[in-house]
Amino acid sequence: MNTPVTTESVEFSTNTNSAPLLQVTDLHTSFSIKAGEVKAVRGVSFSLDQGKTLGVVGESGSGKTVLARSIMRLNLGGNVNTTGQAVFEGKELFGCSMREMQNLWGNEMAMVFQDPMTSLNPLVKVGRQVTEHVRQHLGASRSEAKSLAIDLLKEVRIPEPESRLNAYPHELSGGMRQRICIAIALACEPTLLFADEPTTALDVTVQHQILNLLNREQQERHMAMILITHDLGVVAGRTDETMVMYAGNVVEQAPTSSLFADMQHPYTEALLRSIPRTTQRSHTRLAAIAGRPPDLIKPPSGCAFSPRCPYVQEKCRQEAPPLQTTDDPAHKSACWFPVGTPENKEAFARNLAAKLPQTLSVAEGSMVDTNQLLDQAATAEENN
Ligand SMILES: Nc1ncnc2c1ncn2[C@@H]1O[C@H](COP(=O)(O)OP(=O)(O)OP(=O)(O)O)[C@@H](O)[C@H]1O
Ligand SMILES: [Mg+2]
Repeated sequence: MNTPVTTESVEFSTNTNSAPLLQVTDLHTSFSIKAGEVKAVRGVSFSLDQGKTLGVVGESGSGKTVLARSIMRLNLGGNVNTTGQAVFEGKELFGCSMREMQNLWGNEMAMVFQDPMTSLNPLVKVGRQVTEHVRQHLGASRSEAKSLAIDLLKEVRIPEPESRLNAYPHELSGGMRQRICIAIALACEPTLLFADEPTTALDVTVQHQILNLLNREQQERHMAMILITHDLGVVAGRTDETMVMYAGNVVEQAPTSSLFADMQHPYTEALLRSIPRTTQRSHTRLAAIAGRPPDLIKPPSGCAFSPRCPYVQEKCRQEAPPLQTTDDPAHKSACWFPVGTPENKEAFARNLAAKLPQTLSVAEGSMVDTNQLLDQAATAEENN
């Protein structure tokens, strides 16, 4: 059964005088496969201003990459069906020809992928990969492209850039490879950068360095950025707005500070609980979210998170909650029993008494301190 989707959009606009850089309205993407229709993105709307950052957070399979690829028109294949609108710099992207899209790729919008090894050609020296991109898009001469490549490598803090240009990707560390990918993405000064889990394959220290680098470049270039991650800790203190996705739907959407200060959706709360804490002993088990991600061919009726939600009530199983504003008009969430409300507390107590497994597992665990998380993010920013 199809879960009803909302077409409401949250205006992230701080500048009300001009149109947003990107306005996405009721975007749906599905893939036809033998087993049925995989509904990967189910009615996502948002707007993003020039120079702002949006975090997109959700577990594996929640539709983050499909959303980004849909906007960039990179979901290729005959079995893809995308509907809705994506207006970028006043242009309706879904009405553009592939040639028009090719002009936008790299020049106006670029993407940094999760695994740098899959986006770099292992057989070609990194220097050529950067300079070819620059020559192709900017029409630069060989020597201009080389000097621009050296500047870019310096900018992304690659030591001894001249000699690195002669290295093959496998001769560089994972962090260095990701810096090269960022340099390539930044080469043509895009106005919008998608960073799709840019640090997942890296260790924690390098993760921080790469995220700081992206933030610095984004601010210096006044570039808009969509930072995709499964880790809610990554967006804390780093993005202006955050959109939490579950089963292709947006379940919570808010300015990032307000999301952490006043978390509304049980799924966002569950993601917060699954963030590793620096004060935790190294062998402490993380609180995994109980249950499995939903089947996207036949999503559950009612709220898609209901089978895993510690606060679930009968209404949640029957009726999909709309994405609606809370007391703060910029903060939206899709839940019948939002976290922190008396109804939510009563629901929890009822489920605890009924020994619902996901409620018991939450009761046994402990909550993450959001202040501690924000402190960590602030320290990371100071070290930027
Ligand atoms: N080409 C495709 N054909 C069929 N299903 C697809 C295709 N691409 C993606 N999907 C499905 O769409 C859903 C969303 O995938 P997506 O890659 O957007 O998830 P994600 O949130 O980016 O996850 P991760 O954190 O693992 O990257 C998944 O169930 C995935 O299997
Ligand atoms: Mg992905």
